[in-house]
Amino acid sequence: MSNTLTVPGTLGIDFGTSNSAAAFRRPGQQATLLPLEGAATGMPTALFFNTEERSTHFGRDAMQQYLAGEEGRLMRSLKSLLGSSLLLEKTAVHEQLMSYQDIIAIFLKRVADQSRAALDGRLPERVVLGRPVHFVDAHPERDRQAQEALAAAAKTAGLGEVSFQLEPIAAALDYEQRLSAEQVVLVVDIGGGTSDFTVVRLGPQQAQHADRTQDILATTGVHIGGTDFDHRLNVSQVMPLLGYKHIGPSGREVPSSVFFDLSTWHLIQWLYTAKSMVAARNLKSDYGDLQLHQRLMKVLEWREGHRLADAVEQAKIAASQGDQGAAIALDWLEAGLPAEVSPPILQEQLQALLQHVVECAQQCVQQAGVVAPDAIYLTGGSSALRTLRDALHMAFPDVPQVEGDLFGGVATGLAYA
Ligand SMILES: Nc1ncnc2c1ncn2[C@@H]1O[C@H](COP(=O)(O)OP(=O)(O)OP(=O)(O)O)[C@@H](O)[C@H]1O
Ligand SMILES: [Mg+2]
Repeated sequence: MSNTLTVPGTLGIDFGTSNSAAAFRRPGQQATLLPLEGAATGMPTALFFNTEERSTHFGRDAMQQYLAGEEGRLMRSLKSLLGSSLLLEKTAVHEQLMSYQDIIAIFLKRVADQSRAALDGRLPERVVLGRPVHFVDAHPERDRQAQEALAAAAKTAGLGEVSFQLEPIAAALDYEQRLSAEQVVLVVDIGGGTSDFTVVRLGPQQAQHADRTQDILATTGVHIGGTDFDHRLNVSQVMPLLGYKHIGPSGREVPSSVFFDLSTWHLIQWLYTAKSMVAARNLKSDYGDLQLHQRLMKVLEWREGHRLADAVEQAKIAASQGDQGAAIALDWLEAGLPAEVSPPILQEQLQALLQHVVECAQQCVQQAGVVAPDAIYLTGGSSALRTLRDALHMAFPDVPQVEGDLFGGVATGLAYA
């Protein structure tokens, strides 16, 4: 129903694990991305609660506050909590107890407010949110809960009743705008949390159809993305410097769970609870080399887990396309610590994960019943990884790869959904 508080058209919101974006489309017109942070159309899915000033910060601003050492709490990778029991756990924010679902709502409200500001104070009549093919692998019940929780958070954020579209299908609808002839395309969306695929028939004729069900030949998805690559690289390249795999006086390895949690974007904040801090201090007796334990405690006591994860991520990005390795910036922890990410390290450490991702792409093509797609359309930040592109090339040798808008394509496509 249209009224003076809404504007005719569709708002597409891509709430991503790492980055979020929003796009608007008036009926019959082209979709455009909306500025969400200053002039920037995308923003990191990050919140920072500054405890001294009792202020809340979003996106790049949130990251800057945290990295500048402001007193407070950073939240990242919130989407990874959808479908897990941690979502409803309460945490103190500005002296108020809140669930992580409430925190997602605060983030979505920011997206809604920025979108409204870009649209002369009104929100579009229709709001479409993206969702991965699977929030949770092989668990339909938890997957359903994840979507319901996201819908509830959107409602709390003032977005009303939202509808959902699969992220890879949205990416396909965006790509379709560029096509002048019919193609069967394998859409590959490798993001921060998930890898999603669809094989879809696209083209100017197809775009006219109101119901696209017949054109979507298959969809598959797996819960592997850039944050898992960061995790792997963190465990292999940095955690040994903090005691992972270190043999203590008893002849046993230091218990490893703290290293796994510290390397997992969405679990970092749980390490700072009083109980976890005591457990980490008590690990001291498991170490022979106490310097390693001191490094671990420095990261935890200074709450630098996200800084560490960010340093690994930046090195991954720097090494992802060229031939050069990149140092992981750890000077804030200790000068001269040797840690890097290089193309051979990416190849070795990500091989097993990328194999799952490529298998999921192959399943999608098989399920679609096509011999080979006409093109592979790449989107999502992690699709920039050369090792991934090479692996896809091995799996589909003669299929051309087309690069899309890696960070805005899903939101744009949602506005066409
Ligand atoms: N050049 C690059 N090389 C490798 N990885 C990259 C590059 N640029 C960004 N990334 C990674 O891409 C991921 C973010 O991509 P994107 O913004 O598409 O994800 P998202 O939409 O937030 O996640 P999802 O769709 O899984 O919910 C991060 O893990 C980031 O480290
Ligand atoms: Mg995405």
